[in-house]
Amino acid sequence: MKDMLTAPFLKAFSKTTSNMYRLGWDERNGGNLSLLLDEEEIAPYVDLNAVKRRFELGFDAKELHGKYFIVTGTQKYFKNVEGNEETNLGLFRISEDGRKGELLWGYLDGGRPTSELPAHLMSHISRLRVDPENRVVMHTHPTNLVAMTYVHELETRQFTHTLWQMSTECIVVFPDGVEVLPWMLCGTNEIGEATADRMRNARVVVWSMHGIYGAGKTLDEAFGLVETVEKAAAIYMLTANLNKINTIKDEELKVLANYFGVKYRSGIID
Ligand code: 13P
Ligand code: ZN
Repeated sequence: MKDMLTAPFLKAFSKTTSNMYRLGWDERNGGNLSLLLDEEEIAPYVDLNAVKRRFELGFDAKELHGKYFIVTGTQKYFKNVEGNEETNLGLFRISEDGRKGELLWGYLDGGRPTSELPAHLMSHISRLRVDPENRVVMHTHPTNLVAMTYVHELETRQFTHTLWQMSTECIVVFPDGVEVLPWMLCGTNEIGEATADRMRNARVVVWSMHGIYGAGKTLDEAFGLVETVEKAAAIYMLTANLNKINTIKDEELKVLANYFGVKYRSGIID
């Protein structure tokens, strides 16, 4: 059996948590990350029949039964993941009945997956229905995006429109826009269900006064999506109190979308 710490997916996952921390998105234990893995990808590194322990999910994840995920642990600090992967991360399979996680590697100190596992797994279900290639769900607390939810209307169309206006790349990177949820209690099945419901329409869901969820086919894609939204929110926060005399006009957003061949969400600039 090869050493798990040399697995390319493990290295990429670990590096992503470091990058998220480096950008100031993940204070303390803030944020969590999940990656769907193929059996062939992990088979060289772990005995698929050696379940170390099982844990209750607390919701029905039947649609994901037999699938493998690597997920950050609850109460773990992103700044500590790189170099201490086996304690801070866990790799598990969803049980046949969809009610349990079957731990194959990690959570070495007796830890458990993130408290936001409902939002992660339910979002994976939603995104896989729309895009069978989706692999990643990322939750984090980017400073400017959270700040923006204190001063901007919390309405999906208005919020998306403002973000699209903040930088030329936005409508190209997230043409599906962002969905905005009101403040809700985190770590619950309810916020998981609400997030997954919004994930049917967009790859980004904003949790007002809390953070963001981003989904993608790869770690880079999800990271880049969140990074682009956060950059736009930073520009909004830098200019919100100034006398703005220029903007990207709706007609120009349409020109952009047409030039780059992206199908943008309807009802925002048309
Ligand atoms: P966990 O430590 O359980 O992952 O929670 C962090 C967080 O961001 C909650 O929303
Ligand atoms: Zn959070």
